[in-house]
Amino acid sequence: MALSKRLSSCLKYTQGFTRLADIGTDHALLPIAAIEQGYVLSAIAIDNKIGPFGIAYNNIKNSKFENRIKVLLGDGLEKIDDDVDVVVISGMGGNLVANILLEHSLRNVKRVILQPNSDSDLVREILSDIGYYIVDEIIINEKNKLYDLIVIEPGIMEYTNLQKIFGPINLKEKSHFFVIRIETEIKRLEELLQQVPSSERTIAIKARIMLLEEALK
Ligand SMILES: C[S@@+](CC[C@H](N)C(=O)[O-])C[C@H]1O[C@@H](n2cnc3c(N)ncnc32)[C@H](O)[C@@H]1O
Repeated sequence: MALSKRLSSCLKYTQGFTRLADIGTDHALLPIAAIEQGYVLSAIAIDNKIGPFGIAYNNIKNSKFENRIKVLLGDGLEKIDDDVDVVVISGMGGNLVANILLEHSLRNVKRVILQPNSDSDLVREILSDIGYYIVDEIIINEKNKLYDLIVIEPGIMEYTNLQKIFGPINLKEKSHFFVIRIETEIKRLEELLQQVPSSERTIAIKARIMLLEEALK
């Protein structure tokens, strides 16, 4: 089965590591592809719900890699072992991704690939608490929806509020899709300003527009 652009982008960052844990694996397409491509030597596919666990189990059984990918029913990072050096957490809301990172230790993990579907600021907010910092950030466009991808590794970096909201590397590189995302939100808010009567809400909208304009500087 072909990987989506979003999952292929996560996959690329697993290359060269030894043991992958895919948290919230669902169909297990990502760990199967990582083994198939020779990016990692072994993998654990983890999901906390029985339905996705069963789908992952069947897909792995039908792949040629049953002996190299273990499927586990478990919550977040609780079942990773000391040999796991790379983790992917993708396709969930930022709040859930942040909670998963806070709830259990990353043990010996040298790289985590995070792809929150929303609220990526909540993920950046907790990075110093878990002792990881951002080494790369990209915005993926899939079927006209923009997704954040954040790659973290062990280390401490203090971020400003603006960097936590928009991403330090996004702010520096100002990629095409980053600019599109910001400009689209500014346009939407400016249209909204025309419709809402002057109130506390307009103050909040204007403050957000100023923040967005700051991000484009
Ligand atoms: C929308 S799917 C994303 C699947 C895949 N990672 C992707 O990016 O396409 C989210 C999956 O995460 C699982 N999940 C949610 N919370 C979890 C947790 N705390 N621990 C493990 N799996 C979780 C869900 O059961 C679901 O299968």
